[in-house]
Amino acid sequence: MRDLNEDTLTKETIRAVTGGKDGRISAVSEALVRHLHAFIREIEPSQAEWEFGIDFLTRVGKMCSETRQEFILLSDTLGVSMLVDAINHRQPEGVTETTVFGPFYVESRPELPLGANMSPNETGVPLFVSGTVSDIEGRPIAGASVDAWHSDDDGHYDVQVGSDLRMRARFRSDAEGRFWFWTVRPTFYPIPNDGPVGDMLAAQGRHPYRPEHVHFMIAALGQKTLVTHLFIDDDPYLDSDVVFGVKSSLVTRYRYETAGEAPDGSISLRDYLSLEYHFVLSPAA
Ligand SMILES: [Fe+2]
Repeated sequence: MRDLNEDTLTKETIRAVTGGKDGRISAVSEALVRHLHAFIREIEPSQAEWEFGIDFLTRVGKMCSETRQEFILLSDTLGVSMLVDAINHRQPEGVTETTVFGPFYVESRPELPLGANMSPNETGVPLFVSGTVSDIEGRPIAGASVDAWHSDDDGHYDVQVGSDLRMRARFRSDAEGRFWFWTVRPTFYPIPNDGPVGDMLAAQGRHPYRPEHVHFMIAALGQKTLVTHLFIDDDPYLDSDVVFGVKSSLVTRYRYETAGEAPDGSISLRDYLSLEYHFVLSPAA
């Protein structure tokens, strides 16, 4: 392995990285080198451009902390997260479509009874969310774990602004597979763009916004866990989501409701919005 040149370097590198015992690691390493070298051959970076690339990745790494995952943002904004999601969710017709998990899920979220308000101290328009969880045969799933989380009406998640968990909770579907809860209307928001990924978006001439959405993660025995969002049909960023996560089947619409008795029998003193969706889970393999 001497005197390697532009013509022989790729072949020798592939040989060097594929000698391990783990076949999957060999296959991934081989593809990584092949595609990386092809990329470099295509763009023919100057030495200064190569250094810029190294510095960019270094800054992405240094930006990461307990509460900030710049590499996930990079993956999201380059369409990689949605591609991984698509490859892993080739599911039967009729099952609710998936989308990105996002960086703002919190394991220690509260578990609340059906009908509870998961955002009792938030400003913003009250929102009544309801729906059902069923299997692909249309049978209701009782006891499904229904996690919901979203931004405040200013476009921030709780974890971005403090340590109190807000605007997130886990509920359990009832015997008929139904769930319902109160919260406030979220809004569209920019992904964190004060780091290298924000610099990249600006350089690419892109805005940093995600359309308004509520995140859901729904899990039940014998079913694949569903990670998805619901989007709202009049959002200005539906067709330019910075992380490419919008699917038409997940775009819903608010109903504008007047103050008074709500569908769950509670009394809303203010006008409010309601949102309803029927989730269909895919059987576990
Ligand atoms: Fe989100």
